[in-house]
Amino acid sequence: MLTKHTTSNLTQLSTDALVVGVFADAGPVGPADQVDLATGGAIRRLIERKEITGKAYDITPLWLPAGTAAPLVLVVGLGARDAFGRGAAFRGAATAAKWLAAKPRKRVAFALDAGWTSDLTESGVAGAIAGCQGQDLYRAEKSRHPFDELLWVGGLSEAVQTGTVLGESVNFARRLVNEPPQVMYPESFAAHATETAKECGLDIEVWDEQRLERERCGSLLAVSKGSPRPPRLVIVRHQAGPSGAAPLAFVGKGVTFDSGGLSLKPNDSMKTMKCDMAGAATVLAAMRAIAILKLPVNVVGLAGLVENMPSGTAMKLGDVLTARSGRTIEVQNTDAEGRLVLADVLDVAVGLGAGRIVDLATLTGSCVVALGMDVAGQMTNDQPWCDTVASAARACGEPLWQLPMFPEYRDDIRSEVADIRNTGEGRWGGAIAAAKFLEEFVGGVPWVHLDIAGPAFLEKPKPWLDAGASGVFVRTLVELARG
Ligand code: BES
Ligand code: MN
Ligand code: ZN
Repeated sequence: MLTKHTTSNLTQLSTDALVVGVFADAGPVGPADQVDLATGGAIRRLIERKEITGKAYDITPLWLPAGTAAPLVLVVGLGARDAFGRGAAFRGAATAAKWLAAKPRKRVAFALDAGWTSDLTESGVAGAIAGCQGQDLYRAEKSRHPFDELLWVGGLSEAVQTGTVLGESVNFARRLVNEPPQVMYPESFAAHATETAKECGLDIEVWDEQRLERERCGSLLAVSKGSPRPPRLVIVRHQAGPSGAAPLAFVGKGVTFDSGGLSLKPNDSMKTMKCDMAGAATVLAAMRAIAILKLPVNVVGLAGLVENMPSGTAMKLGDVLTARSGRTIEVQNTDAEGRLVLADVLDVAVGLGAGRIVDLATLTGSCVVALGMDVAGQMTNDQPWCDTVASAARACGEPLWQLPMFPEYRDDIRSEVADIRNTGEGRWGGAIAAAKFLEEFVGGVPWVHLDIAGPAFLEKPKPWLDAGASGVFVRTLVELARG
């Protein structure tokens, strides 16, 4: 899809559709006001009749309106004016794009931008690009048809370009996750990463199983033992900051399919487990955006890639693993595999001299029980860094909520046999037990863990996005790198 910026008169644009927005508590302003004027007050009259409410995600099509060149004007609700921000801009534009992409359309103009700040413009453009992409990768009859051309009316052309990079990166993450697990496995993910790195100028290193052995990544390797698919560790680097400055590290869980291993999952829980590499996809997609945007920072992205399968060679309950850090781990549940992968990847990040770390992982069902499907859990060993990550996420409109890391939770993962064990005693507080486990491997470096098991993969569609991978936190990671 081609994105273009224009400042032409919106009522005269020759397009298949024109999108304008209205707030819930203000009359039509900016472009909506222009369309209202051109159509002889159509929008104001529909607001009076309460056909147009301005509520978030509310869509009203005006077919063949007199006075505009476009045969369809779509009015999208942007919600309350006070609550408007980057999240609402993203979702508002995405809602309109999703609606329009139900049918093939060549040229669609978005005139939402009523003198928005550049960060709102970026978010709107990104939303428009995400909204028209579906999860119908293998359907002959597509349910979404991305437009040939997207025109963004108003704002600065640079913001439109940045928004395009963000939107395409969100879709890139979604695509990696939405691909079926027989297509996306550790080696093929690494091949995608290599291709992407080449395209956008990232340095890349891929550790194969021999290298992982030499590096003593015994914890990650144990997870991969049940699968005929060999594991990979992808390390991508963007070095545009001061030389010698400690890099920011993004670490992603990349379990390309989580069957549970010998602690096999029941069918219903396994159905969506291709999504278990969403952390790795988010990291790679954010690195792509950071490289294309040439942000003046040092960032390293790491993705620990394995397939978790049961077989005669799989790791067993009671196995004791030696992690790269030297710490021994007693395996009590092979379905708690994400933390085993991350234990070694976090250790590699620390070894690379990371100054601050964010890891992203579809780590626990417990986190979904605690916070629901829409909110990520946030856990940390360093409150100021945690606050920084939280404000970046808030700015982008990507919800997360902090969970406590009281020292008492550490007792849960005490082992009598080894230094630590991979699951807690009972099933309560599982998201925190998992985070306490990860904390053991970050060596005191300021670290934030985002448990994205809920929001990474939508079981049902949202008004602004089809079901499947959401691409959540790509924008937040880029925001963090922007500083
Ligand atoms: N990948 C799952 C967590 C998950 C659950 C992700 C639902 C997305 C949606 C993870 O590897 C897992 O199986 N966790 C277990 C941990 C338990 C065995 C301690 C869980 O949450 O049940
Ligand atoms: Mn699991
Ligand atoms: Zn998992």
